[in-house]
Amino acid sequence: MTTAYLNNEFVPLEEARISPMDRGFLFGDGIYEVIPSHGGRFVGLKLHLARLKRGLDEIQLELPVSNAELTTIMRTLVERNGSGSLGIYIQVTRGVSMTRNHVYPSDVTPTLFIYTFDIGKPNEGDPDTARLWRVVTGHDLRWQRCQIKSTSLLGNVMHMMEGVDAGAEEILLFDEYDNLTEASVSNAFIVSGNTIATPALDQHKLAGVTRDMALSILRDHGHFNVEVRPVSRSEVEAADELWLSSSTKELAPIVSLDGKPVGTGAAGPVWCRAQRLMAAHRFDDY
Ligand code: PDD
Repeated sequence: MTTAYLNNEFVPLEEARISPMDRGFLFGDGIYEVIPSHGGRFVGLKLHLARLKRGLDEIQLELPVSNAELTTIMRTLVERNGSGSLGIYIQVTRGVSMTRNHVYPSDVTPTLFIYTFDIGKPNEGDPDTARLWRVVTGHDLRWQRCQIKSTSLLGNVMHMMEGVDAGAEEILLFDEYDNLTEASVSNAFIVSGNTIATPALDQHKLAGVTRDMALSILRDHGHFNVEVRPVSRSEVEAADELWLSSSTKELAPIVSLDGKPVGTGAAGPVWCRAQRLMAAHRFDDY
């Protein structure tokens, strides 16, 4: 049974309860994080905590515990839940208010909920065991503040279902100029020859921690040309390789785009080298 943490208490996940008047439930008025942990070691902890703080600042909400306390809670949960390969889900909402009012209430204690879920062992850059992703493309119809890791994920959920309904497992999203933004629950990279490119950050994309770590690791340790810039639909369609990135999948090879094979239709050689570097450096101090 999974142990969760809710407002100062460790409880069995099945027994965790919040009020329907919690503003997270009523308005999606909250921020979340997903932090990977393998064998009790966190990945990208500093970057995740910094992004959590940025998101909370954007919506004028304060974490009800210190970063040190939060890290201790996370360690306890990981231990109690078996210390395998876990995603640590952290959600902070504005809390419970008995009046439904769009205005932020001032006298409310934030709700802090944390639980862990299995994410499976990360791939070490082995094409034979890599999960291969089929994606389709679509128009990014989400809001203008995708840099905030908000719990209001209906736009992302609807895009994911667009992908699933089209027989895929993810969807690459394009803005009104047909430039790549990201995917419904991942950032995206393209590979052309020795060049690896990913879209520059703005309000249409989440600043993925895996994306950030991959950019640093590939620049510092690989012999690649790494570019952060607009990426057009035609570049995506012509790429030798396409990758997704997120905390639960690290770098993941896309093998099919709108039903057509990407490159040779298998995990590519640049992905293999890049994911091996990720594996070698995933526990570095990011
Ligand atoms: N989401 N973009 C979106 C829209 C995401 O939801 C995610 C990850 C990412 C990648 O961010 P990171 O590398 O920091 O995980 C990009 C998490 C995993 C989720 O919602 O479950």
